Amino acid sequence: MSKLKTITMEWTGDSLILVDQRYLPLEETYVTCKNYKEVAVAIKDMIVRGAPAIGASAAFGYVLGVKEFINTENFDEKMKEVKDTLANTRPTAVNLFWALDRMEKKLNEIKNEENLIELIEKEALDIAYEDIEANKAMGRFGGELLNDGDTVLTHCNAGALATVDYGTALGVIRGARELGKDIKVYADETRPYLQGARLTVWELYKDGFDVTLISDNMAGWVMKQGKINAVVVGADRIAANGDVANKIGTYSVALLAKEHGIPFYVAAPLSTIDLNTPTGNEIPIEERSHKEVRYCHKSKMVPEEIKVYNPAFDVTPNELVTAIITEKGVVRPPYSENLKKLFEK
Ligand code: MRU
Repeated sequence: MSKLKTITMEWTGDSLILVDQRYLPLEETYVTCKNYKEVAVAIKDMIVRGAPAIGASAAFGYVLGVKEFINTENFDEKMKEVKDTLANTRPTAVNLFWALDRMEKKLNEIKNEENLIELIEKEALDIAYEDIEANKAMGRFGGELLNDGDTVLTHCNAGALATVDYGTALGVIRGARELGKDIKVYADETRPYLQGARLTVWELYKDGFDVTLISDNMAGWVMKQGKINAVVVGADRIAANGDVANKIGTYSVALLAKEHGIPFYVAAPLSTIDLNTPTGNEIPIEERSHKEVRYCHKSKMVPEEIKVYNPAFDVTPNELVTAIITEKGVVRPPYSENLKKLFEK
């Protein structure tokens, strides 16, 4: 019997089953990870993606590691290897490291407990269920910022599929609807990996939203035409000063929003806020395979001799961010002061 089952992941107690996001929406297939190495591959290969979803998956991977090595003499060493393997998958989303640190801390606390397996599994389940709760709280806070009849532009996929469930940016859109507001959405396709076209549009359409797909280079013109009332995006890591790392292209959208006087909101749980990283300049930006750019989905468009640059994320400077929506409330500038306060409450 599964102990957690959402659109994104299922935890059975012995395995983590992930919807394979590489093939959505045309194929709905599932990958079963039976050990921590398979979870690491799933994260690296983007079977599962999106900052909170990566964090929760890594936590379950950690549990699989504990189960595998609990009766070995060099348990501590093995668990270090488990943590490192899961951590060395994707560098930008801080939720991954946050979840692994939390799991390691828990393991150290409960080392001598008889029901260690049960307790470590509970920690991973807590991470997952807390993520859903955080998203719903962001939905309630962020939903208040949108007006009935608004059209929102979003970039990448910060929906149920990027989290354990419900979503961060799409959670805000869902939250507004739960408050009785009619919200329409424009989704950037989000080249090169097309998370917007493949995942956001699919998710919102299935959920009954009026959603329109545009290619990334249309965002400015759509804003100029007065079709967008607000931008809402997710985040992979928010630095202590409020600089926001998110999917490549987010920075351009933020600049366009500023030029057109449109509010630019970022929705992210506290697990995405990294007070140990002072500014966006210190956020490691993942560079992914040239193939993602050279190919458009499965079709090769550009020969091998052409150079390709593929940074997977960019950093939006805090001055372009109207507000950050968290599960503890809406944070406004000055971010250096106000983000810190969230952790003091
Ligand atoms: O490369 P991805 O698909 O993992 O990138 C995902 C994003 O950039 C999302 O916008 C971000 O993780 C927020 S998810 C709630």
